[in-house]
Amino acid sequence: MSKPSPNSPPWAETAKFAAAKEALKFVPASMSIGLGSGTTADIFISLLAEHAKKNNLQLKCAATSKKSEELARAQGLAVADLDSVAPVDLAVDGADEVDGRRRLIKGYGGASTREKIVDYLAKRLLIIADMGKKSRRLDKAVPVEFLPFAKKRVEDGLKGLGAKSVELRQNADGSPFITDNGFWLFHADFGEIPKPAKLEDAINSIEGVLENGLFAKRPADMVIFGKRDGSVKILGE
Ligand code: A5P
Repeated sequence: MSKPSPNSPPWAETAKFAAAKEALKFVPASMSIGLGSGTTADIFISLLAEHAKKNNLQLKCAATSKKSEELARAQGLAVADLDSVAPVDLAVDGADEVDGRRRLIKGYGGASTREKIVDYLAKRLLIIADMGKKSRRLDKAVPVEFLPFAKKRVEDGLKGLGAKSVELRQNADGSPFITDNGFWLFHADFGEIPKPAKLEDAINSIEGVLENGLFAKRPADMVIFGKRDGSVKILGE
C-alpha cells in the first residue's frame, strides 16, 4: 500500500473511503479510466475492481504509477499503456492540497509526472481526498521531479523563483528517493502561492526539471472530499 500523505488527519481512513466510494457513481458501464496514485486512489482502485466484477463493466485502465498498475492488475482490472487507453474519459486521483478553485498540489507519493500526464489528458478529472486536504490557498511544498545531473541548477532555479527551502526527498536510509522515471525529487517550499499556474510553468522552464506537482493550469473538474463522519462534500460538477 502507498504511504499516507503527511497532511492526513487521524480520521482520514473513513473520509478517504467515503470519497472513493462516492467516485464509483461517476463510472459508467464502459469507459477508459486513469487510475491515480496514493492511499486514497488505492482504495478507489480496490472498490472499482470489485464494482467492475459485480456489474460486468467494460473498463480500460491507464495507471499513474507502477504501484497503482500492480494493484489494479492484482485486483483483476485491465491495465494497458496510455497510448492504447487514450483518450482517457475520466481520471480519478488523490491530492495533497486542494484550494477553492480546485487547483491542486500533488506528488507526495512520488508520482506527480505520470499523474499530470494522465490527469491533464483526461476529459474529466475527479479528485478524491479527505477534508484535511482542503485549503483556502495552496501553500504546501511543491514536489519537483528532476534529473540528478542538474541538481544544483534546479535548486538554484527554484530559489530564484522564491522557494524558501528546497529539500531533497530521501528514503529512510538517507539515500535519494528515486521516482518511477528514474529521477529525483525536491520539495520546494514557496509558502503561500499567489499565482499557481504561473509558478507551475516557471518551475518547468528550469533546465533539468521533468515536471512539478502544481496542478493549476488544469484544475480538477470535481473534488469529492470525504468527511470524518463518512459523508462527502462535493466541489465542482
Ligand atoms: C501521489 O504522488 C500523490 O499525488 C497522491 O495522489 C497524493 O499524495 C495523495 O495521496 P494520499 O491519497 O495518500 O493522501
